[in-house]
Amino acid sequence: MEDKNTNVKAEEGKATVKRIAVLHIPGEEPIELPILSGTEGHDVIDVKQLGTHGYFTYDPGFLSTASCQSKITFIDGEKGILLHRGYPIYELAMKTSYLEVCYLLLYKELPNEEQLEKFKSKIRYNTMVHEQLPKLFQAFRRDSHPMAIMCGIAGALSAFYHDEINNNNPRDRELVAIRLLAKIPTLAAMAYKYSEGEPFMYPQNHLSFTGNFLHMMFATPCEPYVVNPIIEKAMDRIFILHADHEQNASTSSVRFAGSTGANPYACIAAGIAALWGPAHGGANEACLRMMETIGSVKNIPKYIAKAKDKNDPFRLMGFGHRVYKNYDPRATVMRDTCHEVLKELNITDHPLLDVAMELERIALEDPYFIERKLYPNVDFYSGIILNAIGIPTSMFTVIFAVARTIGWISHWCEMQEDPSSKIVRPRQLYTGYPTRSVKPIGER
Ligand code: CMC
Repeated sequence: MEDKNTNVKAEEGKATVKRIAVLHIPGEEPIELPILSGTEGHDVIDVKQLGTHGYFTYDPGFLSTASCQSKITFIDGEKGILLHRGYPIYELAMKTSYLEVCYLLLYKELPNEEQLEKFKSKIRYNTMVHEQLPKLFQAFRRDSHPMAIMCGIAGALSAFYHDEINNNNPRDRELVAIRLLAKIPTLAAMAYKYSEGEPFMYPQNHLSFTGNFLHMMFATPCEPYVVNPIIEKAMDRIFILHADHEQNASTSSVRFAGSTGANPYACIAAGIAALWGPAHGGANEACLRMMETIGSVKNIPKYIAKAKDKNDPFRLMGFGHRVYKNYDPRATVMRDTCHEVLKELNITDHPLLDVAMELERIALEDPYFIERKLYPNVDFYSGIILNAIGIPTSMFTVIFAVARTIGWISHWCEMQEDPSSKIVRPRQLYTGYPTRSVKPIGER
């Protein structure tokens, strides 16, 4: 493929055709394909029209495919950069609260004080769930994984709010966003309470978003519960660090489902299902369980060897990323937060932290990990913090889902607003039988 430079400059705020690529297929007329430039990152070749020439592109796992245009989040995986609406994740984590980040993702700008107060109030008065919803929990076994419950319960929200949603109406979309942001933490805490056999706790309007979540998780009707500000701050930061991550598997699942015009609550359930896998959001739980299995620093070499062995399915959880080929910038903040939290909680001796630090040190010096650019990702340290602040391991991925709800819904809103959105319908390279005739059953 050659590249015909048209010298058109990239314009800020929208994709621009900067150059034209020319595809030469032997024996056929050259095909011209526009090269689109965004405001940051790699240029992309627009192959939309290729199908009209009788060809499709083949890219399992979307290794080299941009599935949409988006203005929400930018990642430079080589440099380890993550921006939400242009703001670096480190600054957002240090200078803002989770709800400010939610506002930013949803409304495109950081809020001023008045806007934030109004936003908080909208969320606060939507945290309760319909009184029929708690009854659904009774249908689950007590030992159900809370992510299994979340898949079902989030999908069930669509039964409560279906007829009144017009996906094309911005006010309806905003209401969907507010409801989800407010109700998913309530449902997440209920999933935990159900697994513990404890009564559900109603939301408390005088608490912060994060404080209220901790209250619904850990309070009981028997005595007053006081939110620990250190734990509240750590949890809020964990929420910020997981709020969005551009076109990852779960967000793409939400977009895929959303492209059909499906009920948005059902679309979020699709995101929760995709998040659950250990290669994605389930990695935080898998990572902590792995560290518990390793148990002690002296066992690390054995597990490093297993991770490198092609005949062993074991992978070092919390390491590697499809996009980051450098340190995950969220992991850097997470590691600092982890040390901060343990210090503030006076936890001087945390055996898993010793394992984590030594594992990280050894892996970062090992040629296997260096050559493959496998660095710690966000899940490497998050489990230790969550463990230190008393969150049970089975709830780790649920916490991720609570935090990521704003990312999913912001992407869902963006795609509804985008006039170029189409139903997602990938093509395939068929390698099955060519046409054949059905034989009568006696001859098969
Ligand atoms: N441990 C050992 N080897 C690994 C690991 C790992 N964690 N990750 C990748 N590799 C190897 C892999 O075997 C392959 O080696 P080779 O080239 O010799 O065949 C090479 O590195 C490339 O791996 P890949 O599977 O082709 O890379 P991918 O981009 O398809 O997968 C990943 C990315 C995140 C699924 C993978 O790195 C992984 O399974 N990591 C562990 C799970 C994890 O921590 N996931 C959380 C991701 S961050 C949270 C989120 O945003 O979801």
